[in-house]
Amino acid sequence: MDRGFRVSTRIVAPTPEAIADAAARLAAGALVAFPTETVYGLGADAGNAAAVRAIFAAKGRPADHPVIVHISSVADLGHWARAVPAGARALAEAFWPGPLTLIVPRAAHVDDAVTGGQDSVGLRVPSHPVAQALLVAFAARGGGGIAAPSANRFGRISPTTARHVADDLGGAIDTVLDGGHCEVGIESTIVAFTGDEPLLLRPGGIGVAALARVLGRAPVVPGSGAGGRAGGGDHDAAVPRASGTLASHYAPHTPAWLVPADRLRAEIAPRLARDQRVAVLARTIARPAEFSGVWIAAPEDATRYAHDLYANLRTLDAAEADDILIEAPPNAPEWLAVTDRVARAAHGDEDDRD
Ligand code: TXA
Ligand code: MG
Repeated sequence: MDRGFRVSTRIVAPTPEAIADAAARLAAGALVAFPTETVYGLGADAGNAAAVRAIFAAKGRPADHPVIVHISSVADLGHWARAVPAGARALAEAFWPGPLTLIVPRAAHVDDAVTGGQDSVGLRVPSHPVAQALLVAFAARGGGGIAAPSANRFGRISPTTARHVADDLGGAIDTVLDGGHCEVGIESTIVAFTGDEPLLLRPGGIGVAALARVLGRAPVVPGSGAGGRAGGGDHDAAVPRASGTLASHYAPHTPAWLVPADRLRAEIAPRLARDQRVAVLARTIARPAEFSGVWIAAPEDATRYAHDLYANLRTLDAAEADDILIEAPPNAPEWLAVTDRVARAAHGDEDDRD
């Protein structure tokens, strides 16, 4: 999709040579996009503030948003955190490497460019073999962590293939390591250990039930109970900012609407009658015979639905319809992360991007 960027980004196979070259680029202060099991990341040396600031320029993201530091093992936790609460350590040991980010008090050396000036740092050990290999190669060059947000323009849909990255950031970065389609397909679960109780800042690849089994109780969802509040606006010490908590995150360009399954056909018919073009992400509802636009029948189970979601949203967006209609996923715990993402996509407003 041409959005006016010079498209010169190289998509490279993750050979040992390419990974060594990517590590050398990182060590030299350049940006490298790489696959993780969740979505592709736009990486920079987390110990190099200028390199981290270049991420924000490439993404078009405000500089006060924190980025996750990717580390190679639980053993590195103590290097980046000045304190590791027992619950954070338990989650790290249970789910790393994997799609979980822990927000913990930062060590003194962690730069404000990484933390967005907050007193905490987000840490994650990715399980994707290419991400692991890149971290090892980077460590061999004396590097520590790799700071990386999702490798998309600010406010756009996260990339789950190398091609998505090149389409979105082409011209702004040199190299994307190609690790195929990301297995999880949506971003990591984020749990913050910065106050009295663990907070679920973003539902994701690790479900709440799995977290609760390890923590002995479910993490608190900001805004869901007494004293809680939705993220995204002003914040206090107990509820760190997470840009993924702004309502318009993960937005396609085309206006998208979340529609209950039993209303989907009723929402489509009048639009077609008005000669509008409609693109649909259905799950249980069958395509009506008279429908001629782009219709995607998404997988029925939550895991495979998440795997395909961002690629599906890109396909729907590329249809250049007047509206995207998304069949609302079930209201069930295993659908929490997917529901969060489709609700944000449906809330999308390009003038209010993040
Ligand atoms: O799955 C993922 O987490 C992917 C892959 C590349 O690892 N990364 C990702 O990064 O989704 P990003 O920057 O798009 O989203 C990370 C979220 C942001 O909402 C950011 O605000 C939040 O994590 N975050 C990072 N550090 C934080 C901190 N110290 N306090 C609060 N939120 C933090
Ligand atoms: Mg992101």
